[in-house]
Amino acid sequence: MLLRRVVAGNIHIGQFRYDQWGEAMKKVPSAVTPVIAVDRKLAKPLHRQIYDSFRALIVGGNLGAGQQLPSTRALATELKISRIPVLTAYAQLLAEGYFEARAGAGTYVSNSLPEQPAANGRRATRSIGVYSGARPVGRRAMLLPRYERPPWLRGLGAFSVSQPAYDKFPFQTWSRLVMRHSRSPHVSALQYGGPLGSEQLRDAICTYLRTARAVRCDPSQVMIVTGSQQALEITTRVLLDPGSPAWLEEPGYWLARQVLVVAGCRLVPVPVDNEGIDVAAGIKRCRKARAAYVAPSHQYPLGATMSASRRLQLLDWAQNSGSWVIEDDYDSEYRYASMPIASLQGLDNNSRVIYIGTFSKTLFPSLRLGYAVIPPDLVGRFAAMRHVMDIGPPYFYQAVLTDFMNEGHFARHIRRMRLLYAERRTALVESLRKEFGSAVEILGAEAGMHLAIILPKGFRDQEIAARAAHQKLWLWPLSPAYLGDNTRQGFILGFGNTDAEEMPRAVSQLKRIVLAGKALPTP
Ligand SMILES: Cc1ncc(COP(=O)(O)O)c(C=O)c1O
Repeated sequence: MLLRRVVAGNIHIGQFRYDQWGEAMKKVPSAVTPVIAVDRKLAKPLHRQIYDSFRALIVGGNLGAGQQLPSTRALATELKISRIPVLTAYAQLLAEGYFEARAGAGTYVSNSLPEQPAANGRRATRSIGVYSGARPVGRRAMLLPRYERPPWLRGLGAFSVSQPAYDKFPFQTWSRLVMRHSRSPHVSALQYGGPLGSEQLRDAICTYLRTARAVRCDPSQVMIVTGSQQALEITTRVLLDPGSPAWLEEPGYWLARQVLVVAGCRLVPVPVDNEGIDVAAGIKRCRKARAAYVAPSHQYPLGATMSASRRLQLLDWAQNSGSWVIEDDYDSEYRYASMPIASLQGLDNNSRVIYIGTFSKTLFPSLRLGYAVIPPDLVGRFAAMRHVMDIGPPYFYQAVLTDFMNEGHFARHIRRMRLLYAERRTALVESLRKEFGSAVEILGAEAGMHLAIILPKGFRDQEIAARAAHQKLWLWPLSPAYLGDNTRQGFILGFGNTDAEEMPRAVSQLKRIVLAGKALPTP
């Protein structure tokens, strides 16, 4: 069914005819109707009420210079009054310089107003910056510092982490599929969907995960989420309580850590080595942890792949202590030196693993689509929790992605990107070796879209990163990935979105900034 006209509140989507001031009728885009109230019972004439409302909105800063206004016809219809008072009010506002008419394009708030709006901002409103009375904030909100982008997250360029090769994404194909689904969607696509997401996409993901990641799953266990982040949030809400101890890899993924912090969990940092999380150390620190968060395919940020024996130890521990394992499989599609390895979930005989994956690395992060594979007995609980969070995932890009996967574009794109990233990774490793020799240690270059370097003693990663940001080089320091004080200084270097030919120049800039006049220590 095709929806011809959608009216939501007083926001009109679509076009209407504009015939102001008796000009020849022309089609112009419609404007959002401002909050104008008229009351026939008042002694004040209607045209004056309209005039006063517009003037107050302009002077108060709610309507900004250059903003389009509704046509007189549209406003009269909206207010359920005749057009005459609206025409009178518009004529006066035009005459006084609050409005300006643009031939064939409608009426706008004037760019040169007769009086200054209340604040400088185009959209200042009365309430901005005016606080009075008690303003209590929940304890959970106080568990996190206020959001502020650190310097290294303020730009995009060589070494930015979590950036796929945007210019290599098949946008032509993608836009064809977007068109297919948005041109005349079936009404079922416009209704509320279920909390698990589209059945077709869950089928496609299930097929992919069984094949490429040896995940044991059925579509009924798959939940479509808005990225791994939401999956971590739902998992935490369902499985952990305030005060529940949870193992976290040390160093580890800061956004997983923050989810657990907000949930009030007790964080138990467990060191990682070149076999992944040290399960024996975790057991020594807290055998009875409710859950362990791990990234076994490519530990973040140091890049180890969890060994087979550690995987078995971790699953044994989870079974014996009645704990859960949260497996973050965020970039497992890209392995360079060996074949992709199977998921931890695929080894689990006791349904103790919640498997989480994302399209942020394989497609692009702003898509905000990912998935969780949930043990069958927990699906109803996860679905209920998700339902109260956002009801379910948005429909359109799920439909687009389903076709993208089912028509083979996804597999083709991954194959192409694997070759491209392998080339970029090699260029980065070679340039690092050339510039730094053995003075920096390189870790985790066998997989994914980033590697880590460890700096020699005496170099402070956050100081260097702040300096680099001034030169528009966005370096992610390693030390904030540690929860405890026993940190290593280094950088997480992304290579997904930097051409191999660019790498030598970028690495020599990196060296200049890191050294800042100092000499590299001789081995
Ligand atoms: C360890 C880890 N997990 C997951 C993600 C992806 O998160 P999302 O799917 O929410 O974009 C990232 C992105 O950088 C990551 O580093």
